[in-house]
Amino acid sequence: MSALRTLAVLALIGVSSSQTSDCSYIGLLEHLNLTTTNDLLAIVRPVKYWNKTTFVQIDMLLCGILQVDEKSQTFTSHIWTRMHWINEFLTWNSSDFCGINMLTIPRSMLWIPDMHIQEDTSDAGSIQESPFVSLSPSGMVLANTRQLLTSTCQMNLTLFPFDMQHCNITFSSMNSQANTITLGTVYNDTVLTQISEQIMVTQGEWQLIHMDIVSMSFYKGVGNKLIYRVTLCRKPMLYVINLIVPLLYFLVLDLATFFISEARGEKLSFKVTVLLSISVLLLILKDMLPSTEDRLPMIARYCVTIFAMVGLSILETMLVSFLIDLNGCCGNKAQSSVNAQVDIQLEADNHKEPGGAEETPEKSSFPLDQPDDRDLLKLILEEVKAARQEAEGQDKTKIKPGHYRRLAQIIDSVFFTLYLVAVAVFLRHMYSVWVSQYINSN
Ligand SMILES: *[C@@H]1O[C@H](CO)[C@@H](O)[C@H](O)[C@H]1NC(C)=O
Ligand SMILES: *[C@@H]1O[C@H](CO)[C@@H](O)[C@H](O)[C@H]1NC(C)=O
Repeated sequence: MSALRTLAVLALIGVSSSQTSDCSYIGLLEHLNLTTTNDLLAIVRPVKYWNKTTFVQIDMLLCGILQVDEKSQTFTSHIWTRMHWINEFLTWNSSDFCGINMLTIPRSMLWIPDMHIQEDTSDAGSIQESPFVSLSPSGMVLANTRQLLTSTCQMNLTLFPFDMQHCNITFSSMNSQANTITLGTVYNDTVLTQISEQIMVTQGEWQLIHMDIVSMSFYKGVGNKLIYRVTLCRKPMLYVINLIVPLLYFLVLDLATFFISEARGEKLSFKVTVLLSISVLLLILKDMLPSTEDRLPMIARYCVTIFAMVGLSILETMLVSFLIDLNGCCGNKAQSSVNAQVDIQLEADNHKEPGGAEETPEKSSFPLDQPDDRDLLKLILEEVKAARQEAEGQDKTKIKPGHYRRLAQIIDSVFFTLYLVAVAVFLRHMYSVWVSQYINSN
């Protein structure tokens, strides 16, 4: 009944705009047999010969890209679909009806193709259908739908955040068990992309690149589906500023720590702080990317490699400081052991000397006074021993501690060189496989 009331209102509008009854919408409705409740038009597919397929044209416009969720792999957009098809029973000659070339009637009065979107995961109520459909003299029916569409979209995040995503929006009939409906579009993909770009209200961090249209059958020519392949490009600046540049900065800082003096403990604690800062950034990254990714995204490789390199350099710093500590402690030990050796020798010599000294005067023919002679000899001996001890001590203490220190220095400089080379190679590689493609395409 509400439909009839609407019709009456429509007809009144028609009456007020024209004088003769033939020029009203009512005359046209009567001609189309729509004034009586003609339910048959709403029940069956409007073809005069049953074998004829209905060609449904679906034009989809993208009005907004609201969200692309990498974690749940969904793409939320605002779309506007215009569906056209021919109703063979609703035709008129517009010159017979004062040139009326468009009639709007309630949607419930007519058969509407049961189109749905395969990837659709949005909840009920997200579809806003126009309550009316438009008729034109050739029998063409036009139905408009606006929809907040949340669709599944398999994303490839390897190049994140310099990535491009392709999301399919597939229209098909829910009951397309036979070849009763074929799908197509009125405008081609270039025109639809242009219109979409013009009416696009919000894009967020994404940019619409192109919409490709593919029409194909489900299985061996049975059933038909229309695929809109939406290509989106991410605007990566936020991620560059928030993640990539800070990580690079930490890497450079870590390289710079090699110029901090080894003597203080600051170097190690500074490096550990850098490592902690990197792990904070890794936590942020974990919140952004899905954990079910087969191929590790480039940004994860970037983070993990930087983390590993800084970790390695911390280990190296520990080794170097250990060697330097070793230098300090074992240099002293070596010296003391050398001293002990010399002392023992000295004492042994001391014990020997008296005997020797007693024997020598007997054999010698020097006519010297024995006690004075012994004192003098002892003095000389002391001197020689002292000199020898000094010389030996210097020799031994110089070899060992210097050895460790030099080893530490060699390890440090070799590691620094390797580290620098590794960083350069790594950054070059990352640039070529990750960023260059994006930079070239822009
Ligand atoms: C309307 O119905 C009458 C018979 O009830 C029929 O003769 C006529 O062809 C119909 N008009 C249209 C446009 O189908
Ligand atoms: C999207 O549609 C294309 C056909 O145009 C197909 O090759 C591709 O596999 C589809 N992508 C997904 C994720 O289904």
